[in-house]
Amino acid sequence: MDGLVVWQSKYGSTADYGRWIAAQLGFDAGAIDAVDVARIERARIVVVGGAVYGGKLPVAAWVGKNWPALAPRGPHLFVVSGMLGNDPAKLGKVMERAFPAGLRAALAPFSLPGRLDRMACDANDRAMLDMVVRMGLQDPALEALRRTGRFDFVNMALAAPVVAAVRQAQRRA
Ligand SMILES: Cc1cc2nc3c(=O)[nH]c(=O)nc-3n(C[C@H](O)[C@H](O)[C@H](O)COP(=O)(O)O)c2cc1C
Repeated sequence: MDGLVVWQSKYGSTADYGRWIAAQLGFDAGAIDAVDVARIERARIVVVGGAVYGGKLPVAAWVGKNWPALAPRGPHLFVVSGMLGNDPAKLGKVMERAFPAGLRAALAPFSLPGRLDRMACDANDRAMLDMVVRMGLQDPALEALRRTGRFDFVNMALAAPVVAAVRQAQRRA
């Protein structure tokens, strides 16, 4: 295996993107809980995926903890969220909250649209989502959530640029 794709995903959409990217590249793949330093060190290139919850990126803690092993493998990052159209300002805010400046400078995140089904969420998440929906912000994902209780913007074709960036890095190595 030349590389590894690793993800944090509570409801499965980030895992779906991760498995698809790994299949395209022929890479090893797994969730963060299943990936230790030895598995990172067997890879030449690492792709990390994480979803956004309440403006936070839980995968960032795993990235920080494993940074000494990740840094020499030029990690590629994809961020899955309810944001559509790769909004650079919103993604920038998430990145600023999630990573110290040093790590941020080494990570150029790809933003991918996710999926959410209110009924599949646990009680805490449902309460948080209901609160955000009640705020009435103009946002396509929140609007869909308010009207139907769900949204699904997952589209594997949108992950193609992640695969292309990894292939480019492989050619340079
Ligand atoms: C409790 C909760 C909070 C969320 N907060 C945000 C948010 O702050 N910004 C955003 O763009 N998307 C938010 N989302 C949408 C998720 O990022 C999206 O549904 C993503 O696809 C979930 O990834 P997963 O299926 O891998 O868990 C939230 C979803 C949940 C369940």
